[in-house]
Amino acid sequence: MNNIRCIGISTGGGDAPGLNAVIRAAVRTAHVKYGWKVMGIPDGFDGLIWPERMFELTDKHVSGLISKGGTILGTTNRGNPFRHTLMENGEEVVRDRSGEVVRNAAALGIDAVIVIGGDGSQAIGLELFRCGMKIVGVPKTIDNDLSATDVTFGFDTALQTATEALDKLKDTGQSHHRVMILEVMGRDAGWIALHAGIAGGAHAILIPEIPFSVERLAEYIHEREIRSKRFTIIVVAEGVPLNEELSALSRSKSPGIAIMNALDARTHKECRVTVLGHIQRGGSPSAYDRVLATRFGSAAVDLIAKGKFGKMVCLHGTEIQSVDVGEAIGRLKTVDPEGQLVATARSMGVCFGDVPER
Ligand code: F6P
Repeated sequence: MNNIRCIGISTGGGDAPGLNAVIRAAVRTAHVKYGWKVMGIPDGFDGLIWPERMFELTDKHVSGLISKGGTILGTTNRGNPFRHTLMENGEEVVRDRSGEVVRNAAALGIDAVIVIGGDGSQAIGLELFRCGMKIVGVPKTIDNDLSATDVTFGFDTALQTATEALDKLKDTGQSHHRVMILEVMGRDAGWIALHAGIAGGAHAILIPEIPFSVERLAEYIHEREIRSKRFTIIVVAEGVPLNEELSALSRSKSPGIAIMNALDARTHKECRVTVLGHIQRGGSPSAYDRVLATRFGSAAVDLIAKGKFGKMVCLHGTEIQSVDVGEAIGRLKTVDPEGQLVATARSMGVCFGDVPER
């Protein structure tokens, strides 16, 4: 069994509903199935730079944890030990502290580490693996844009949050005959926008993968007016490409606000925007995310037991499998503009702000 007696767990990058469920599953599996001790690494890898912050994860810590959002370990998206930023004499300096991280883990008796995180955290995990640390990865992002796994936990919960927001905006938008815009997360991929848009019955969906024009959107709103549809619901992913006019209008960095201002000027309708933001990252995980997170956490511990280091758990179809972390990182899964989901939405009459060929 690889002489494992103690493992560490870290959570890095932006949080996602289900992180705590992964921690719970890993701790339970380590205790119940293998009799190992588990150490919590606070705030990404920072806990291994300052080992006095490390603590043992006991049954008490994980009891009742499956339904809790966030991460009890804390997280950071600035926690790269290879490029650790600190202030020295009033100046920002960057230091490589990876050696300390590897040494401190060994000194604490940690034989292997589970790295729960997105692309950035997995890349750090891989570098540590190359420095001799035994790591296994668990993928995480609400954006669902990692190509190595069919689904990431957190996505389903974020989708539910966005869909509920759309339902509410539809109520008020319909009453006031307004154009209602919901901006959702999705820096590089439009999965949340596309799924929530379909689930919430949005009239227009704007995603990074499909360039759009405000003229086409304004025209579409007008076409709806002619059909006595006096309100329009638009979902926009935060990463949509903006033209010069919209970039100038988007001083706040919110494409939703820019699109609202541009439509306001063109349609002479009352337009309102809601930026859903980090509400999508919090909350109790959905049943689907709890099950997926539990499967990932437990499978990660099994990988350690089998000595399969440098691997990341993933979901393929209905099976939990594993891939090399090196193969998993840096490959985004984006929406196929010609794919079934987009086609289905178009069949519902959804406008993507482009002019599709017939
Ligand atoms: O988790 C990914 C993500 O949700 C992106 O869609 C978004 O741009 C980003 O996190 C925001 O992260 P933060 O504000 O925490 O840096």
